[in-house]
Amino acid sequence: MGNLNSIRIGKEAIVSLGQTPRHELKVQIRWLIRRDLPEVLEIERDRFAHPWTEEEFLSALRQRSCIGMVAELDQRIVGFMVYELHKASIHVCNFAVASWANRQGIGSQMVQRVIDKLSQQRRREVQLELRESNLEAQLFFLEHGFRAVSVLRHFYEDTSEDAYLMRYRLDWVDEDFVPEYAPKNRISQYEIG
Ligand SMILES: CC(C)(COP(=O)(O)OP(=O)(O)OC[C@H]1O[C@@H](n2cnc3c(N)ncnc32)[C@H](O)[C@@H]1OP(=O)(O)O)[C@@H](O)C(=O)NCCC(=O)NCCS
Repeated sequence: MGNLNSIRIGKEAIVSLGQTPRHELKVQIRWLIRRDLPEVLEIERDRFAHPWTEEEFLSALRQRSCIGMVAELDQRIVGFMVYELHKASIHVCNFAVASWANRQGIGSQMVQRVIDKLSQQRRREVQLELRESNLEAQLFFLEHGFRAVSVLRHFYEDTSEDAYLMRYRLDWVDEDFVPEYAPKNRISQYEIG
């Protein structure tokens, strides 16, 4: 449970505001293959209130521009990411780490892998949408240099919730950053780093 430095948000997220030294689990990152799907679906159902179905994973991964990646620890899948390659950007469609392995650096290793695919000549940015209520992931992406650049009203069909469009650009330096949208609700209350 939380302590004075943490707050509980929504279904399961504990957002901690303090500095806790953490143990990092080094994972193997590789392409997602069909037989990973049962474990991926287990993580998906564990982490999301409105999970993708198996059919949604399959139809996304059938697209030529869509790539699945998994993080493996001792032959067990502990995280996955599904992303699309566009001409000038990478779009993260789905991403989660098993809750038992949370906060041990696995998500960071996966995001870094995607950021490493950017290049000045070609794809210069990574972007994704996050639910307005998903403060845990917002803090995670802020920590990795992403910024909320706009709000997409009623983006999610299931609950009609708004989304933040979060973006990471290779050529951003903090001084240059002028958001198209400066969030004034929960996300702006926390200063990272
Ligand atoms: C977001 C998510 C992928 C992060 O994965 P993770 O492996 O736990 O992330 P890491 O351990 O690499 O976290 C790195 C940093 O992110 C931030 N962070 C992650 N979880 C946090 C939390 N609960 N509270 C505050 N900051 C958090 C912290 O800065 C953390 O560094 P620290 O632990 O040294 O403080 C994971 O929480 C998750 O699967 N969430 C549910 C699914 C989801 O929301 N996916 C994103 C939308 S597609």
